[in-house]
Amino acid sequence: MEKKIEEKISALKGRCLMEPFDFTREELEALFCLGDDIIDHPQTYAHICDNKILATLFYEPSTRTRLSFETAMLRLGGRVIGFADPKASSVSKGETIGDTARIISGYADIIAMRHWVEGAPQAAAMKSSVPVINAGDGGHQHPTQTLADLMTIHRVKGKFSGLTIGMCGDLKYGRTVHSLLKAMSRYEDVKFVFIAPDELAMPRELLSELGDSVSWTETKSMEEAMPLLDVLYMTRVQQERFADQAQYERLKDSYILDREKMALGKADMMVLHPLPRVNEIAFDVDEDSRALYFDQAVNGMYIRMALIVALLGLKPGELCWEKTKKKPLTAPQEGKEMPCNNPKCVTNHDREVRPLARLADDGVWVCQYCDTVIE
Ligand code: CP
Repeated sequence: MEKKIEEKISALKGRCLMEPFDFTREELEALFCLGDDIIDHPQTYAHICDNKILATLFYEPSTRTRLSFETAMLRLGGRVIGFADPKASSVSKGETIGDTARIISGYADIIAMRHWVEGAPQAAAMKSSVPVINAGDGGHQHPTQTLADLMTIHRVKGKFSGLTIGMCGDLKYGRTVHSLLKAMSRYEDVKFVFIAPDELAMPRELLSELGDSVSWTETKSMEEAMPLLDVLYMTRVQQERFADQAQYERLKDSYILDREKMALGKADMMVLHPLPRVNEIAFDVDEDSRALYFDQAVNGMYIRMALIVALLGLKPGELCWEKTKKKPLTAPQEGKEMPCNNPKCVTNHDREVRPLARLADDGVWVCQYCDTVIE
């Protein structure tokens, strides 16, 4: 790898990943180059984590994220501890997220956490002594899914600028589209087409946070959007995020991608989906060479390998026995003490977490954990 890329990778040592903006555009691109190198030279990296342990703390169901993290560590020569069912941990006895993170960071070298509470990985990262990775927190962020998405675009298109990206389905609760939108907003001449019913539209707070850095339009018609798109990002309408199940039943089949709609797309359009899918992509679309969601899941494993190597500051051929100490989070840890009005925010679920807000560029106060505008 080029020296410049190696320098960017070295800068990630000890860092946490809560959301895509935690890394600069150049750091993310260096990570994709490391991912390419791991794909091309797997043997070089097969023992780089020989004495390292990954802890996967999953408070919410997962197939891809948890197992790809675990496989990533195993393929790097490391070992894995953790839980997939929080009922089997002391969380069920009332242990706080902070205490859990303090304890696990004494055992493991790196932590990947998924939680249904928004901002929970941030609360863990504030108490952990080792790097923490957000593996999805409620409807808030899912940055490693974004790494998998970007890695797939990088390998197929070889660029991020100048693309038109359609996001379709649940844009309100879909943490994957929130993270991808943020990451892609840093590239020139990217256009977004949001395809969603009114009830599941892209949150206005997020669009106003990104301001002029994103160029976007909205439509309810998939047919109208299809011919414009270089990337179509499909999402599942997530039953688990709805308080009103009747509303879920009404909205769940709003958009179904089938062969007829695929025929309206460009010959080199990419179809991505974070998966799992329910009804939103017909099974016969899988045969279309533009359907890349299974490749995307495999890329997710390679980019998580790259992320583990980078956050632990490891280099091929050098065994490191010392624990990599976590650096302070990019987000300031101090702020004004203000209660958050988001009922799913970690500040409203964990008795140890102090509600803190930061002043955003547009003069509003924003929760430091879940990014909700404080009313
Ligand atoms: N894409 C994704 O996060 O899948 P899992 O919920 O199976 O981890």
